Amino acid sequence: PKASVIVDKDFVISKVDERIYGSFIEQLGRAVYGGIYEPDHEQADEHGFRQDVLQLVRDLQVPIVRYPGGNMVSAYNWEDGVGPREERPRRLELAWSTIETNEVGTNEFADWAAKAGTDIMMAVNLGTRGIDAARNLLEYCNHPGGTYYSELRKSHGYEQPHHIKTWCLGNEMDGPWQIGGKTADEYGRLAYETAKAMKTVDPSIELVSCGSSNSAMPTFPEWEATTLSHTYEFADYISLHQYYGNHENDTANFLAKSLDMDQFIRTVISTCDYIKAKKRSKKTINLSFDEWNVWFHSTEADKQLESWQVAPPQLEDVYNFEDALLVANMMHTLINHADRVKMACMAQLVNVIAPIMTENQGRAWKQTIYYPYYYLSVYGRGKALQPIIHSDKYDSREFTDVAYLDSAVVLNEEHNELVLFMTNRHLEASLAVSYDLRSFEQAEVVEHIVLEHDDPKAVNTKEKEEVAPHSRGNAVLEDKQLQAELPRMSWNMVRLR
Ligand code: AHR
Repeated sequence: PKASVIVDKDFVISKVDERIYGSFIEQLGRAVYGGIYEPDHEQADEHGFRQDVLQLVRDLQVPIVRYPGGNMVSAYNWEDGVGPREERPRRLELAWSTIETNEVGTNEFADWAAKAGTDIMMAVNLGTRGIDAARNLLEYCNHPGGTYYSELRKSHGYEQPHHIKTWCLGNEMDGPWQIGGKTADEYGRLAYETAKAMKTVDPSIELVSCGSSNSAMPTFPEWEATTLSHTYEFADYISLHQYYGNHENDTANFLAKSLDMDQFIRTVISTCDYIKAKKRSKKTINLSFDEWNVWFHSTEADKQLESWQVAPPQLEDVYNFEDALLVANMMHTLINHADRVKMACMAQLVNVIAPIMTENQGRAWKQTIYYPYYYLSVYGRGKALQPIIHSDKYDSREFTDVAYLDSAVVLNEEHNELVLFMTNRHLEASLAVSYDLRSFEQAEVVEHIVLEHDDPKAVNTKEKEEVAPHSRGNAVLEDKQLQAELPRMSWNMVRLR
């Protein structure tokens, strides 16, 4: 099989908003306790944060991290997590049937985020609570001083405001599993009034209106249309969430699931613009794809867990090689929608469906999916260019005309670098690709990174990094034509300068 691609400097989709390389830490399982925070770990710093984990996060250059949930936020009292630790209540955490000790809360997370070099995307509880709790939390976080909640923050040792810019108006409020779930009209009204109060407290913030929990929800996309018709005036973004699995063990079909993500994004864009037209508005709502990943490996194990434990090993998917390929394709899809997708969060970051795993009292290591995340985040910054792809294709169980080549292209003018990201979806054969780079002056291949493995089910463990990239790709550039043979089932990055 083969694929030919045209890339031109003028085929600009948009500047990539670096926040599409965001992630997510929920107070769930071992994401916080035993993940980012483990005060008696030998690598813990003075705040109890694991420095081995911090280093892996910094390497990923994660620009923004969503917090504290997720489903957890819909029954969360933020007040439980601030002030003297010894006075913080232990609570029944209803989303995941655990015990939340509240040892880590808003201020500790802000400390961790500063150390990780990342911004916070804060979610407010619109399940069991509403306008009052949200505006108070915002005042606590962002108001400089001289009021009840800003002075309370200071009394807790945080003189300076946290300056949190991005706020989510609830989480997955369409989901029947959500504590305090709502109909679209109920949510829309509450989110509108909450947004109005929040933007009065701090007009500089940006707000994310809650979209559907996934594209298969029976209320999708009517949920988007109805809720946005309420929240349009104050919302800046709408959220999208999507997880894929390979329960059927059908790899060809699994690797094509990013096509579903693409269609999901297109439908949400259309729905936003439909409401824009109805409202005769000049404002455009952008997309925050603030939960996405592969998630299915741990579902059965989680059913066996006992309720009401502190930080049990929940949602601990062990990712294999083929998962890393779909993760790469999902990231390509985000880049190819850079004009409307301005934020995205790989869900999640540590232990819970995450690229980074830890052992309590032990090591931290990289899952297979860490690698595409790393390369795309570090090198996928600049202008997204639209690759015009002519590729051989296949049909799978759910998809027709799936191109063997999946690709995204980013021009980094600051470093004078053109970066090609490519997946060969073919399960048996290598793919001969040629990129026509007619308008570019770049003259040399800096590196051709390849992620490949004989076994699609190969995983990384704390003992062995079975799946890791190498730089022995065979890309050559001659007369503005880039040629490469992409190994069967592989992900590739070629940097040209
Ligand atoms: O990321 C895990 C969970 O997935 C989140 O808590 C929820 O928002 C989604 O259903």
